[in-house]
Amino acid sequence: MAKTKTAIFISGRGSNMMALVEAAKASDFPAEFALVVSNDPAAAGLEWAAKHGIATLGVDHRQYKGDREAHERVIDAELRAAGIEFICLAGYMRILTPWLVEQWNGRMINIHPALLPHFKGLHTHERAIEAGHEEHGATVHWVTPGVDEGEVIAQARVPVMPHDTAETLAARVLVEEHRLYPEAVRRVLSQSLA
Ligand code: GRF
Repeated sequence: MAKTKTAIFISGRGSNMMALVEAAKASDFPAEFALVVSNDPAAAGLEWAAKHGIATLGVDHRQYKGDREAHERVIDAELRAAGIEFICLAGYMRILTPWLVEQWNGRMINIHPALLPHFKGLHTHERAIEAGHEEHGATVHWVTPGVDEGEVIAQARVPVMPHDTAETLAARVLVEEHRLYPEAVRRVLSQSLA
C-alpha cells in the first residue's frame, strides 16, 4: 500500500512520537514516519528517532531571535526537500505562525492533552483539577491558525480521581494519548487516500 510520508514535530521526550513509530510497524498503517523535527536540537526524542533509523532535524529557534517565520521557513524547506506530505505535531511546544499553518493546511494535525474545547494552551492537567472536572483526556485535532482551535478528529476520556495531582492525571491521560494518536492518524490518512 502507498504510505503517506509524514514528519513528527517534537520538543522533548517524544513518547507520542514513539507510539506513532511503533504503530507504523504494521504493514497496513497508512503513514511512513520519515523525519522527526525539533526546535530543540538537544530534545531526547531526536536521539531516540536517530537510533531507530529515522532522519532527524533540529533547528534551534533561539538562533532566530524572535523571528518565528524565519525559523519555520528553514524547517519548511527541509520538509519539502524530504518529500514530506503530512505533519503530526506531538508535544511541539512552539506556537506556529499563520504562514506555516497555511503551507500545511489540511495536512497537519496535533495532539492536545485535554478534552477540547476545554483547556486550550498549557498546564491542562492542573487546570482540569482546579476546575473540578470529573473527566479529562486528550484530543487530536486539525491545526488551524488559532491555538488548539481546529476541528476535532478524535478524543479519549479518562476520569479525574479524588486524589489526583497534575502528575498522576497526566500519566493517565498519556496512556490514552499513545493509543489515540496512531488511531487518529490511521483514520485521517485512510480517509484522504480513499
Ligand atoms: C503530551 O501530553 C502532548 O499531548 C502534549 O505534550 C506532551 C508531550 O509528551 N502536547 P511527549 O513528548 O509526546 O512524551
